[in-house]
Amino acid sequence: MTKTVQLHVDRYYLQYPAVATIVTSHADGRDNAMAVAWHTAISRDPPIYCVSISSKRFTYGLIKASGEFVVNFVPWEKRELVAKVAGCSGKDVDKFRAFTIAAEPGKEVGAPVLTDAYAAYECRVMEGVTLGDHTLFIGKIVAVHWDESVFTEDEVFDPEQVHPVLYLGGDHYAMATGSVLLDRIVLAKAGVEAS
Ligand SMILES: Cc1cc2nc3c(=O)[nH]c(=O)nc-3n(C[C@H](O)[C@H](O)[C@H](O)COP(=O)(O)O)c2cc1C
Repeated sequence: MTKTVQLHVDRYYLQYPAVATIVTSHADGRDNAMAVAWHTAISRDPPIYCVSISSKRFTYGLIKASGEFVVNFVPWEKRELVAKVAGCSGKDVDKFRAFTIAAEPGKEVGAPVLTDAYAAYECRVMEGVTLGDHTLFIGKIVAVHWDESVFTEDEVFDPEQVHPVLYLGGDHYAMATGSVLLDRIVLAKAGVEAS
């Protein structure tokens, strides 16, 4: 395998694919939705989730003002909605009205939860850390919503039931299909024994 190495890093999309989410926010009587691929879980107890948002986004001001956001995980059928909410700003467009986005109010936060999300985390901001050109909003998860039919009894996501929207960068998306069970203990033991 021949690899290209760059020391001046201006290309930084090699971590994709990443699950594209829709982050919703609410402040001053305005709801908004934007696509977010830079998000991650960071603590199980307490449950903490974070999203990285540029200060250029309308969402940034709403999260700053309210201290709340919702991370919505949407199925492949909603891929065009992901692109639509990424393709314009809440500064110019009421996206909920323009794209007839179905939502219900959060249980614990003012931001809406998308009706079509198969899972959603309501988050209250613990801290906002600005690093470079984005701010990491670190949120305590205060309510979790999920469609039980999409998860197995062990709470494992079932890719037979729903395909998440994978973002590849630019305007490219992919559908994830298939799954495999790998027993890490058995595999690691066998690997160590064989070495
Ligand atoms: C799939 C996808 C993922 C994105 N992820 C992020 C992200 O993690 N953080 C961010 O600041 N912008 C991200 N963007 C860009 C915003 O979604 C886009 O600028 C949007 O219009 C902002 O909306 P707003 O101004 O209404 O908040 C992403 C765009 C796409 C297409």
